[in-house]
Amino acid sequence: SEDELHARIRAAKKALGDRVVVLGHFYQRDEVVEHADFMGDSFQLANAALTRPDAEAIVFCGVHFMAETADILSRDDQAVILPNLAAGCSMADMADIDSVQECWEQLEELFGTEPDADGRVPVIPVTYMNSSAALKGFCGEHGGIVCTSSNAATVLEWAFERGQRVLFFPDQHLGRNTAKAMGVPLEQMPMWSPRKPWGGTDPETLRDSRVILWHGFCSVHKRFNVAQIEKARADYPGVRVIVHPECPMEVVDAADEYGSTDYIRKAIAAATEPTVFAIGTEVNLVNRLAAEYPQHTIFCLDPVICPCSTMYRIHPGYLAWVLEGLVEGEVRNRIEVQEDVAATARVALERMLAARP
Ligand code: 13P
Ligand code: SF4
Repeated sequence: SEDELHARIRAAKKALGDRVVVLGHFYQRDEVVEHADFMGDSFQLANAALTRPDAEAIVFCGVHFMAETADILSRDDQAVILPNLAAGCSMADMADIDSVQECWEQLEELFGTEPDADGRVPVIPVTYMNSSAALKGFCGEHGGIVCTSSNAATVLEWAFERGQRVLFFPDQHLGRNTAKAMGVPLEQMPMWSPRKPWGGTDPETLRDSRVILWHGFCSVHKRFNVAQIEKARADYPGVRVIVHPECPMEVVDAADEYGSTDYIRKAIAAATEPTVFAIGTEVNLVNRLAAEYPQHTIFCLDPVICPCSTMYRIHPGYLAWVLEGLVEGEVRNRIEVQEDVAATARVALERMLAARP
């Protein structure tokens, strides 16, 4: 039963003490989150992996790319564990290293490799945290950097100081929404995809491009639309609409505010008057916030309950299984990034950790 599972998790954690740290992303289900030592958005969890160098194991309740990042940033002999190895991310899978290489070669053909008079190279690659370690490694190797949804604007500034343009992958929406807010016109954001390299873009106009977008997207956030926002405004005059920047541009434009999962959480926590919030992000987080702040009315913009199906694959049963493995001296479901990839990926991640607004 559920109760037995929770008791097993608690007993294993007690037996392990400081030897283990359990990290949980905000999108994890409540039955998992209650056992996390740290909760956070993807940026906070990357930092959390660094804060416990004494722990033998980091159990990451999140998705594969997050566990890879924790492995890259943590000490070599610390084991990072993903309770269910099938917890991937469909967006991260939309960019593979071969396609990125292919795009990069085309960009080199178009723009060469020489810096301009200000020392800015033709293209800086920027990868969203939601990508494989190989792509972070690509960025490390080519003067690029990693960003998350909470620091995308800071990271783009960093990149524009060093490059004439940015190649941003895998999430087209985060790239477009962030660059647009910084004043980059849409005409200067062509999109590349392996099957249709430049879409319909005239190659002549590519020279003026500022941000080359990848074709990836998040299937959870793609579901939000403007009609849902209009309905929320009609039903609740005065509603505050906050969405995640993985939502399409029209949705971000129609919302009152947008930001990372932690931004959304803090915005609600800071509201002093009873407020109606319509939220455009994963439903596990929205429902938890609604329960945590009963003085407000908080609901998910998407009326059809739609969790992130891969985040949901971390079931408490798997958490119990990996923790009990550790108690018995067995490391189950370890995520280990190959050292050569980890070395270059670390460069790109450390640039992100050092970039400050
Ligand atoms: P953040 O936690 O950075 O807001 O990202 C949301 C997300 O989709 C993680 O997969
Ligand atoms: Fe990936 Fe979207 Fe799930 Fe985040 S919410 S892990 S981007 S599929």
